[in-house]
Formats: sequence, structure tokens, C-alpha cells
Amino acid sequence: MNLTQLTQSLIGRSKPIQLLKTKPTNPNRAQSAFPIRHFDFGFESDQLDPKFYMQAEWASAYFAALSIFLTYGEDLVIETARYHRDLIKDPVLKQRLTALIGQEALHSKIHEEYNDAMIPRNLPVTLYRKLAEAVFDNLLLKFPQPLKLSLMSGIEHFTAVLAEYMMRNEENFYHSDDVRGRGLWMWHMLEESEHKDVAYDVYQQINGSYPLRMAGFAIAALTLFGGVSAGALMLPFFRRPKNLVDINFWKEGVNSYALLFGSKRGVFGSSIKHIADYVRPSFHPNDHDASEYLAYYKQKLLDPEYGALTPYFIKEFTPKLRA
Ligand SMILES: [Fe+2]
Ligand SMILES: [Fe+2]
Repeated sequence: MNLTQLTQSLIGRSKPIQLLKTKPTNPNRAQSAFPIRHFDFGFESDQLDPKFYMQAEWASAYFAALSIFLTYGEDLVIETARYHRDLIKDPVLKQRLTALIGQEALHSKIHEEYNDAMIPRNLPVTLYRKLAEAVFDNLLLKFPQPLKLSLMSGIEHFTAVLAEYMMRNEENFYHSDDVRGRGLWMWHMLEESEHKDVAYDVYQQINGSYPLRMAGFAIAALTLFGGVSAGALMLPFFRRPKNLVDINFWKEGVNSYALLFGSKRGVFGSSIKHIADYVRPSFHPNDHDASEYLAYYKQKLLDPEYGALTPYFIKEFTPKLRA
């Protein structure tokens, strides 16, 4: 079954989803408000699947490490966005920035609940939290505000790339029975794509320096490919020390590497053009149009009757437009 057939079968959709376009679009197109959504997933430790992603242990460990470290990146994004909100004159962008702050606060809170549920499964959540705190408190959070704003824009580019890869490859989330874990990541990816242009637009309005934008991009890349990968590399041995001498675990490692960094189907390897496009001086996040995917996932996840996330949904709130 290919992706189109799979997605059609999941919601009985008759029209195939268009592939993401990479033609430049008008970045000044009318931007609309989006909501802050609250959920209660009720994660339970014994239902978490350590091979959640494609039943590949190291690739799954990348997502587990990302879940831990990402909360610190989101807290940096929130702090930076709050600092710059008063400097924004455009009321629509200000409203969208408030919505981004709210969405990231909920991501951070709910990933923390998921991370707490990992602790009884021998995952090194407490240790990784201490390491992340040391890096963020002593280095990243001490950057001057312009660099933090650029870093925020860079982080948001990477989460948009990840989101749009996962939205294009939805079937990758269906190799596990961990429905709450799947729900968490699909909701998070939907909202990362939904607000992907906000940080960039704020950066361009307030600063706009190209060299500084590249500096933030480089630091974001270093933390995602260096920091998170290093955490992921060690994680399976904390979970199961016998992995050290398990030949099947090591053999599977090749597959996990391909799933993350391979040029054909890797999350990041196959997204390299999208990642590198950020270097283009005229880049804008909306040059990569994901509107068809967003419409599809909003219906699939949030439909009041049959949405996959409806059992966990509590409420939503859209910030007011203020002059
Ligand atoms: Fe997020
Ligand atoms: Fe985000």
C-alpha cells in the first residue's frame, strides 16, 4: 500500500494529497490566526513503546532524546518570543506570536508528561534533563537577545522540516500500538507546521540580518544533529544494557541510521534540500507549501466526531487581535 492509498483508507479521503510544492509563494499572503489546543493524553509507562518509530531501536531513541531536549528548546523559544512580542507593531503577527507561545508551552508541558512516563522504563530522563539544563542555563539562554531570536527562527525551521517529513510519511507512525505516543507526535508536528512562519517573520521584522540568521541556523543544527544524536546514541544502553552484546541490536543500527540520515528515506537525509534552503537569502518558510497536509491532518486528528485526538482533546483558545 502506498502513502496515498494508506491515507485515503485512514479517513476515507477521495482526493489524493498534493505533494509539497517548493516553488516560491508570496510570503506576504494573508496570515490567519490559529488556536492554542489543550490535551490530556494520560500517558502510562507500561504502554510506551521503546521501538515506537518503525520498530527501530536507535531511530526510536532519537525521538525519545528529542522529546527530552526539545522541551528546553521550546522554553527558549517561549522566553525569546515573550521578550520580543512588545517590539512587534503588526497586530496580526503579534496575535500569531502569542498563539505560538501558547502552542509551545503546551508542547513543552505535554512532552514533560510523556518524558515522566519514560522514567520507569529505564530511560535516562533525569540525567538528560540535568545535561540539557546545564547547556541551556550556562550557554544558550545567556546569548544576547538578537542571537536568541535567530536561534528561535533556526529551531523553528528544523521543527518545520521534521513536521513536514512526518506529515508526508504518516505511515511511519503506524508501526507501533502506542496510540498516545503517536497522537503526541502527530499533534506536535501539525502545530509545528501550522506556526512555522511566525518566528521567521518576527526575526525579519525586528532584525533581518542574514549573517546572524545563519549563525542561529548553525547553532540549531549543532544542537539537533550533535546534542540530540549524542543523547540518542547512548539511550538504548541505559534502557537495556544487554544491547551492548546483542548482535541483532547492532545490525539494526544500520537500519536506524538509514531511517534518520539516509538520503532515500531518512527523516533528515531525505530532507536535506528543505533544510539547506534556509541558507537562500530570499528564503521564506511558506515557500514550502504544506497547506494540503495541514487541512488533511486537522480533519484526521481534530474532527469532533472521529478525530484521532478527539478522546484526549480538552479545549482550544485563539488569542484576540490587539492593536
Ligand atoms: Fe513545539
Ligand atoms: Fe514551534
